[in-house]
Amino acid sequence: MCGIVGYVGARQCASMLLEGLRRLEYRGYDSAGLAIHDGTRIQRVRAEGKLRELERAHIAEPIDGTIGIAHTRWATHGPPVTRNAHPHRVGSIVLVHNGIIENYAELKAELATAGAEFSSDTDTEILAHLIAHARETAASLHAAVQAVLEQVRGSYALVVLDERDPTTLVAARNASPLVLGVGANEMFAASDVPAIMSETRDVLFLEDGETAVLTTDGVALFDASGAPVSRETQRILWDPVSAEKQGYKHFMLKEIHEQPARIVDTLRGRISMDDHRIHLAEVQLDTAFLKDIDRIVILACGTSWHAGLTARYALEALARVPVEVDLASEFRYRAPVLGERTLAIAISQSGETADTLAAIREAARLGAKTLAVCNVMGSTLARDCGNVIYTQAGPEIGVASTKAFTTQLAALYLFALWLGDRRGTVSREQLAAHIDGLRAMPTAIEQAIGLEDTIRAFAKDYIHARGFLFLGRGQQFPIALEGALKLKEISYIHAEGYAAGEMKHGPIALIDDDLPVVVLATDNALYEKTASNLEEVKARGGRLITVTTEGNRALDRFSEHVLEVPACDPMFEAMVNVIPLQILSYCIADAKGTDVDQPRNLAKSVTVE
Ligand code: M6R
Repeated sequence: MCGIVGYVGARQCASMLLEGLRRLEYRGYDSAGLAIHDGTRIQRVRAEGKLRELERAHIAEPIDGTIGIAHTRWATHGPPVTRNAHPHRVGSIVLVHNGIIENYAELKAELATAGAEFSSDTDTEILAHLIAHARETAASLHAAVQAVLEQVRGSYALVVLDERDPTTLVAARNASPLVLGVGANEMFAASDVPAIMSETRDVLFLEDGETAVLTTDGVALFDASGAPVSRETQRILWDPVSAEKQGYKHFMLKEIHEQPARIVDTLRGRISMDDHRIHLAEVQLDTAFLKDIDRIVILACGTSWHAGLTARYALEALARVPVEVDLASEFRYRAPVLGERTLAIAISQSGETADTLAAIREAARLGAKTLAVCNVMGSTLARDCGNVIYTQAGPEIGVASTKAFTTQLAALYLFALWLGDRRGTVSREQLAAHIDGLRAMPTAIEQAIGLEDTIRAFAKDYIHARGFLFLGRGQQFPIALEGALKLKEISYIHAEGYAAGEMKHGPIALIDDDLPVVVLATDNALYEKTASNLEEVKARGGRLITVTTEGNRALDRFSEHVLEVPACDPMFEAMVNVIPLQILSYCIADAKGTDVDQPRNLAKSVTVE
């Protein structure tokens, strides 16, 4: 969702701000703008649509200076038109904001009564009015911002500039991420590290309720009461090139290809071949609790929810604990029953998904112990949960999640094996065999990625399909859901994922000679039942694309296309089977010419409920 970049220093900053926005494009947006103080006045340029529109507007009306703020907006209040684009300005105050001001309607009514006039439909403009008003009597911009935030309810990452002070930016955060970058006599602010990583590796993550004053002399942090806070900078160690396309046409394709390496990174250091055991030093849950767990509740959204649904099979099989997998957006609204013997696991690539954060906080409030499976160090989720298993996917830029999903599975499978071992529900022999199976997965995935040319050759034949059905049983059911989600997200073709056994309870009515049906029929305990479902589809003329285990010819005669994946430990086969579905979605979307990395209406990090 919305992206923020801010700079104060000695350099002319327009191109740096635009480049920072470019690196935040993956978050999803529909308009953009920047405001720069040239030492005398603040000038703004804003545009509807993609960043190239803002760049065009900036070429037509160039502005520059040594202090500025920039923003990509994902519309919440008001349509994506220029008047609603940030930065917003009232009097001398100019600001950018991510998040939602929940009491904006009542604040707006009060401002209107006092005679304020509004130039946008946004909640953000209300903040600009309030700060401009407070600034008239406050000793400093920081004092004005701090006073206004006391009246505001909701989520915000905020960076404010005052025309009266060309030396200072004020930043604030509540439930919306904001990172500050520390350079030599210059400071940066951004919604996410990649925006500023080419400029500095030394960062500070603002905590909820904190504000910061940024000048060329450095940064001063304050807590919600205005008391100074001291915090060391953190050094970002990951490689900036991992956030580049490296010759691939799209980030999504690059990220599909990266999966074997990122899974190796996720397993690295967590498997000991000396004793054939899993070591998760980051999980500080004592054995008495682990043996006594009565339930695991997994909370997540979207693809991360599919990772939870998939991992449930391994967790129940290996650790013998009942597992419930909830959509985080639903969990809080159904009076969930949790207690001290519950382990709640939140899964999130970004660690900033508002629904997932709210759900895991609710689980903690109800007494559950919490664990996060997360990709972003320093994210809100990682800081909220005492226990975090980091996936090592590296920055995922494509909005459609690929490597985040398979590394989540790797982390959850490690956890299932570790938990089974700690609870004594898996024997040493089984543990050793599964560890070997898990270590073999990156090679199997590499081989499955080799299907790209085959899939690309036929994908164009499906670009006009009116819909797709994805079918699977057992662990392959959530993989069918994930295949359908991928296709919908990036190709805008309607798709449904179904448990293959459910097909005859309804969706079979959809099947005719026009409907492509993707069936996951690999060599596992449910193969024969799935193969029967496949025959049922064929009998009604459905166009079958079949994913099966290498060497199986039995399904050739039913299928328009057969995609063979390597044999592997069935406990972990979902990781391999999802690969052809990711590639199929990618190739169909690419053949259609959609915006694969930034599909319409979608945001990478969904920080509003
Ligand atoms: O960052 P998170 O894993 O919490 O994000 C959850 C979903 O928003 C995300 O998985 C979304 O469904 C992706 N676009 C799927 O490709």
